[in-house]
Amino acid sequence: MLAEISIYRFRQHLQAVAPLAAAFEREWPRWYGPGGEGNVAADLAAYANSEGALPAGVVALSADGDPIGTSALKAAFTPGFAHLTPWASAGWVRPDLRRSGLGALLLRALEAEGRRLGYSNLYCATTTAVTLLEREGWTAHAQTVHDGGLIGIFRRKL
Ligand SMILES: CC(C)(COP(=O)(O)OP(=O)(O)OC[C@H]1O[C@@H](n2cnc3c(N)ncnc32)[C@H](O)[C@@H]1OP(=O)(O)O)[C@@H](O)C(=O)NCCC(=O)NCCS
Repeated sequence: MLAEISIYRFRQHLQAVAPLAAAFEREWPRWYGPGGEGNVAADLAAYANSEGALPAGVVALSADGDPIGTSALKAAFTPGFAHLTPWASAGWVRPDLRRSGLGALLLRALEAEGRRLGYSNLYCATTTAVTLLEREGWTAHAQTVHDGGLIGIFRRKL
């Protein structure tokens, strides 16, 4: 499956914005759905920005050209960690394709973006992707309370 997938910088495939917006609304309805605080159009437009700086998104396309995964490097996570940048975030893989290693490929694409932009470390805050990050060589860096729960901060040295 992975052999047929290509990962690109998001700004090279702006046609992926609309289908990914719909996918994000389905995945995170409380944030991106009706009444939620998030603005999916603004976020994805930023990940697909043409400036060549943060935020920097990547998109995975199937052999048919369908967007099947995405992730982005963002400048900030939360004010308490403003001294750390950039952050791997907005990780999403089409549900029927999960647990086949595409999330790991997306992380590696973010590492390439991080190097291209001159960073020596990446950070990621997660409760759900700990095993994925550890397999990819990320190490526990800190813990914090976020949205009422404990969340781990991981670091990937580039
Ligand atoms: C997180 C996500 C991008 C990983 O993509 P993936 O292609 O399944 O990743 P991989 O196959 O390389 O690795 C699987 C790992 O992803 C993590 N993961 C997190 N949520 C997951 C989910 N809903 N389903 C499967 N894996 C998930 C786990 O660490 C898992 O490892 P495990 O099999 O040891 O439990 C994908 O599962 C997803 O889109 N999840 C829903 C959105 C989300 O929670 N994103 C934010 C994560 S910080």
